[in-house]
Amino acid sequence: MSEQFDAVDIIATKRDREELTDAQIDWVIDAYTRGVVADEQMSALAMAIYLNGMNRREIARWTDAMIRSGERMDFSSIDRPTADKHSTGGVGDKITLPLAPLVAVFGVSVPQLSGRGLGHTGGTLDKLEAIPGWQANISNQQILDMLGSEGPGAVICAAGSGLAPADKKLYALRDITSTVSCVPLIASSIMSKKIAEGTSALVLDVKVGSGAFMKTFDQATELAQTMVALGTDAGVETRALLTDMSTPLGLTAGNALEVQESLDVLAGGGPKDVVDLTVALAREMLDAAGKTDCDVEAALKDGRAMDVWRRMISAQNGDPDAPLPVAEHQHTITAPRAGTLGSLDALAVGVAAWRLGAGRARKEDPVQAVAGVQMHVKPGDEVSAGAPLLTLHTATPERFDRAIEALEGAWSLVDTDSEEGQSARDKAQRGVVLERITA
Ligand code: URA
Repeated sequence: MSEQFDAVDIIATKRDREELTDAQIDWVIDAYTRGVVADEQMSALAMAIYLNGMNRREIARWTDAMIRSGERMDFSSIDRPTADKHSTGGVGDKITLPLAPLVAVFGVSVPQLSGRGLGHTGGTLDKLEAIPGWQANISNQQILDMLGSEGPGAVICAAGSGLAPADKKLYALRDITSTVSCVPLIASSIMSKKIAEGTSALVLDVKVGSGAFMKTFDQATELAQTMVALGTDAGVETRALLTDMSTPLGLTAGNALEVQESLDVLAGGGPKDVVDLTVALAREMLDAAGKTDCDVEAALKDGRAMDVWRRMISAQNGDPDAPLPVAEHQHTITAPRAGTLGSLDALAVGVAAWRLGAGRARKEDPVQAVAGVQMHVKPGDEVSAGAPLLTLHTATPERFDRAIEALEGAWSLVDTDSEEGQSARDKAQRGVVLERITA
């Protein structure tokens, strides 16, 4: 069968800063999925897009073509509204774990089809696999059963390979060709999966700062606005929160450590920034799904969210009562003097957790459930001389040196009465939610 277009012409069009037509986009995505367009040709096209961008029409068509490359989930048989959350990825971002059961308490079903971590950001599935017995892969029928009114109402599981297969192939290629952090490619990648997943409401948590893909507020705003427009045009009630990722979220980065912190939140405690963001995202999801006046804080305090969590974990063979694994080897970094923690860099903590064994360098690598970084203080907190700042956890102590190296220069201790001390306290006070973006 002769092909409608030539990949070389399409690459040249983008290289020369011209617009791709709808027909060119449809063909190149389909031909790449079929293996007719080679990886090296798609790499060149991705780099041309990275350098020269795409306009809104091109991004919308690119997203749509990736959705059409695979199957779409259908939640119309579920007798409740559905709402989903997607985070662009950050260090210590365990919010999905307490958030999904919390939203389900109020009669909104939460399908969280999630991924694994690559590089310094942790993956939700890797975290949940720290729970003895828990299984990430379940069938579409099991997903529907868990989301219906007879089930827990929330499910966190692996996204099936049938959803947006073009994105799966392209994302793996972008990862090894330095073409990930580009607004048109990130927006179309995330939104093709989310729209194919079939949720009726979607809240995006777009991270900004050193530990995020988007390092500046302006880049993150552009990404959020692009994704909100894509979702809205596809009939999904979509909103975004821009949230701070200059310092890690909560007091833990690493799989079992983050599950434990999520359990603390579900038990009505936990670090303030994690609770605040969980509550802010839950309110947005419920509002987007048409539910107002829900007292989400009460559902964390009175155990209703924990009840849903227990049902959700048990339904995937996890034992909610089993103790979580703990690292055999720990190393604590202490404060050399009294003062206030001025800063703690998210990227450095993510890299340290990764080097301790919490993350993977290649997608087939195993991860350690026990590895990670526990933070004893956050920016703005006062410490005395010799007080613990960070404890590193691992099953393989030969990893300590490289993790400690990653943390060199990653935190600052300032005089409590100084301007820097006050500015760290002010920043902590302002909280993690920086901006809200709607259609
Ligand atoms: N997450 C995705 O799913 N795709 C991207 O391109 C970046 C983050």
